[in-house]
Amino acid sequence: MSSVISLIIPTYNERDNIAPLIERIDGALSAYDYEIVFVDDDSGDGTAEIASSLSSRYPVRVIVRRDERGLASAVVEGLKQVKGQMVAVMDADLQHPPEVLAEMAKVLENGAEIAVASRYVAGGGCQGWGLVRRIISKGAVFLAHLLLPATRGIKDPMSGFFMLDRRVVEGADLRPTGYKILLEILMMGQFRSVTEVPYTFKTRTRGESKLSARQQIDYLKHIYSLMRRKGELLRFAKFCLVGLSGVFVNMGLLWLLTEVAGLFYLLSAAISIETSVLTNFTLNDLFTFHDRRSSGIKPLLKRLGKFNLVSLGGVGINMAILWLLTEHLGLYYLLSNLCGIAVATLWNYSVNTMWTWKK
Ligand code: GDD
Ligand code: MN
Repeated sequence: MSSVISLIIPTYNERDNIAPLIERIDGALSAYDYEIVFVDDDSGDGTAEIASSLSSRYPVRVIVRRDERGLASAVVEGLKQVKGQMVAVMDADLQHPPEVLAEMAKVLENGAEIAVASRYVAGGGCQGWGLVRRIISKGAVFLAHLLLPATRGIKDPMSGFFMLDRRVVEGADLRPTGYKILLEILMMGQFRSVTEVPYTFKTRTRGESKLSARQQIDYLKHIYSLMRRKGELLRFAKFCLVGLSGVFVNMGLLWLLTEVAGLFYLLSAAISIETSVLTNFTLNDLFTFHDRRSSGIKPLLKRLGKFNLVSLGGVGINMAILWLLTEHLGLYYLLSNLCGIAVATLWNYSVNTMWTWKK
């Protein structure tokens, strides 16, 4: 791998950060040939002009987008324009310490295809974050791990600071929404190995963050879009369909055993509940999670055991909600049950995807 590093830095109103940032990058990458490509979304504060004025002293290029805005899409634009074999992405506001770039370059030289500067591996962290911000951030990571299984091996898929071999994104159809460009690349890129390098996300000293509620909503939209593109939405639909089939098995057998075979209805119920759990398991194993099961009889029995436990939890949740809404909120019991089924379905899906078929 040649040692040319292209840095893509999205900017929006970062006037006071540009000069100190370039100086620190230049110091950190003294052992490498590098270029910096700023992708500026027509900042009103002269960011692009300041960056351009430094291009006589440093290997700096500036791309100005006038019709579009957004951190992640700015990075996609940058990816189309860079030349290096190694491509890094970082923020302009010095919250990402440039010194980590050299460490990430080493990781790529040692064969990894993506190096992620990570807040959530040992040695990493966030400077000056309160409890609420930590919880929101961890919650966002949890949501990605839950809904996009391919991200589960990575502790900080939300990082905006990373370096990759350009082949990872060559030919990838990148259509990110909002801020999380790494998430898009992890889901849509071609690669085998990712290594996380710890770093501390520093507090901002100049300029202002552009993060707002808008980006949180964009994040949810982005996850939804990736679920759709990667077939995870279809997987959830299959899971619901299988659950529905279980209701028919359960009801049908309950009727048959009670009316035709003449069993006491509670005994029929116990048999039909377990039968529907078994048919649900079989269908989910063959159909919903066919790509996520390991072969062999022992793993199969393990999955079956887990699925039974999860279903038991689901029934408990369903009944607790049925009771709570009916007794304490005065809701009609069939409506309460519908709510119970919805929550139990979410529980069943979450725990089964994270545990039973975790891979
Ligand atoms: N071109 C462009 N367009 N750049 C933007 C835009 C935009 O609409 N919005 C923000 N930026 C630039 C900022 O100028 C800065 O360089 C970088 O993107 C990050 O923006 P901040 O507003 O400082 O984001 P943050 O500090 O809340 O979050 C960042 O750090 C997180 C932790 O690593 C983001 O990079 C997150 O993606 C990242 O996870
Ligand atoms: Mn920032």
